[in-house]
Amino acid sequence: MIVCEGYIPPPLCGETKGMYPETNTLPKQPYPDRSAAGLVEFHSDSPEETFALGMRIAGFLKPGSVVALRGCLGSGKTCIAKGIAKGLGINETLTSPTYTIISEYQNDPALYHIDAYRLNNDEDFDNIGGRELISGGGISLIEWSERIQKSLPEDAITVSLEIEGPVSRMIRVDNIRGLK
Ligand SMILES: Nc1ncnc2c1ncn2[C@@H]1O[C@H](COP(=O)(O)OP(=O)(O)OP(=O)(O)O)[C@@H](O)[C@H]1O
Ligand SMILES: [Mg+2]
Repeated sequence: MIVCEGYIPPPLCGETKGMYPETNTLPKQPYPDRSAAGLVEFHSDSPEETFALGMRIAGFLKPGSVVALRGCLGSGKTCIAKGIAKGLGINETLTSPTYTIISEYQNDPALYHIDAYRLNNDEDFDNIGGRELISGGGISLIEWSERIQKSLPEDAITVSLEIEGPVSRMIRVDNIRGLK
C-alpha cells in the first residue's frame, strides 16, 4: 500500500479509545441537553435494516444538508449512505469513495459522498475544496467525519454507528427533528 508522507491511518475498531472521544463515549441515553435537537437511537439487526433507516433519513434532507457519518471500519457508514442515496431517488449504486475521496451523484440537489478516511485533518479537506463543496446547495454524506470535525457546519446531522455484534449495530442520529 502506498501511504502519503505524514499520513496517519485511521485506527481499527477498538483502537480508537481516546482519539475520537465522541465515537467512544457515546452515552446510552440521549444527551440531556441535546434531546430537544432530536438525538434518537436505533437498533439494527441487518444491513437491510440499516439501509432502510438511511432511506427514512433521506426524507428529512434538504439542499445544503450535511450528514456526518461516524463509526469504525465496517460499522455500516457506506451501508446507510446507500440507503440515503436510494431514498433521495438515486438509482445508481453508491460505491465507497475511499480512494477518490469525493464522489458526486447527479441529482437535484446534487449528492456528494465523501470519505475522509485518507485525510489527515481539516486543512487537507479545505485544500481539496471540500469545505466549499459542502457549504453549497448539494447534500453531503461524509464518512470518517471525525477527521474533519472542524469543517462541519453546526447544523450537521450526525449519524453514529457502533458495532454491537456481527450483524448488530447501534445507530444514533442527532439533529433531525421529527425522526422516530
Ligand atoms: N446491521 C448492520 N448494518 C450495517 N452493516 C452491517 C450490519 N450487519 C452486518 N453488516 C455488515 O457490515 C459491513 C458494513 O460495511 P460498510 O462498508 O457499510 O462499513 P463502513 O462503516 O462504511 O466501513 P469503512 O470504514 O471501511 O468505510 C458490511 O459488510 C455489512 O454487510
Ligand atoms: Mg465506508
